[in-house]
Amino acid sequence: MCCCIRGAITIEENTKECIWRNTELMLAEIMNRNGLSADDIISVVFTATRDIDAAYPAVALRKMGITEASLICMQEMYVKGSLEMCIRVMVTINTDKAQKEMQHVYLKGAVVLRPDLVKKRTEAIAIDGPAGSGKSTVAKLIAKELGYIYVDTGAMYRAVGLYCINNSINYADNKAVEKVLDKIDIDLVHSEGTQRIFLNGEDVTDAIRTPAVADGASKVAAIGKVREMLVELQKSIAHRSKVVMDGRDIGTNVIPDARVKIYLDANVLERAKRRCNELEEKGIPYDFNAIAKDISSRDEYDKNRELNPLTAAEDAHVIDTSEMTIDEVKNKILEIARG
Ligand code: DC
Repeated sequence: MCCCIRGAITIEENTKECIWRNTELMLAEIMNRNGLSADDIISVVFTATRDIDAAYPAVALRKMGITEASLICMQEMYVKGSLEMCIRVMVTINTDKAQKEMQHVYLKGAVVLRPDLVKKRTEAIAIDGPAGSGKSTVAKLIAKELGYIYVDTGAMYRAVGLYCINNSINYADNKAVEKVLDKIDIDLVHSEGTQRIFLNGEDVTDAIRTPAVADGASKVAAIGKVREMLVELQKSIAHRSKVVMDGRDIGTNVIPDARVKIYLDANVLERAKRRCNELEEKGIPYDFNAIAKDISSRDEYDKNRELNPLTAAEDAHVIDTSEMTIDEVKNKILEIARG
């Protein structure tokens, strides 16, 4: 069966680059929101206002690998007072869904065309990435700068891991962990850009920062019932306050409609180096090779588990921080958030 999806976007200037970049953005968003692949697209009709003539928008689709669909570009009729510098599309797709399920996409200045179709996103910044990618350092700075609440979701999994360790429960045993979940009460207290975490009334903010607890956290995070309990708590915080939330599945699962999604990455050696620097600052002895090994085996586990594995959301901005300073990463994210 065929359905049609509508979209529109305004562009900043009449240049090839600007036309293609915005067309690509609009099409990628249409594909994301409707779960489409290139093969699902039968045809795309583009129209552009008469002030756009530096390039055909359709070229951007060929660049995106949409090579089989029939494309056509046309100049729109001019209506006095209508939106300027605007590209519109009608995408015909092959689908089992009904027309009313289609998600139409109106971006930038074109939002005014169909405010009824524009879904409001949750005002949150979701930051995901592997251990040591700089998430928490940068997330705290951004929260402070924007006046948002910083939420470290890894701390919650760590608190469950710590409970298991303290109570001699094998954290790799799903059934054993599930049995004690109703005895675990986790509370987060946020003030002045920092988070303190309480496990059954006790402040465990510092106690959860050990390699043993990190391993426990990674293991309990693969258990469905643990995730259900913590994700519900995370969602409720995200919907009550403006948050910068970091973790592994924030953009994909906890706040899939977050206004800004970031995926931070860095190579393993760089991440191990950063961990060692932190330990050095605290005067804690360390073994570089052991830390590098710990980090990569935890990543493997987090990326390959069945439930909400660590992965970048399709609409996340992926930033490789290996060669970047903290300030550079912070500024890049703020630029994305403010843009
Ligand atoms: O960010 P961290 O190192 O404090 O996280 C500890 C573990 O918790 C991590 O190895 C995977 C898990 N985790 C998760 O599965 N989902 C999250 N949103 C956050 C952390």
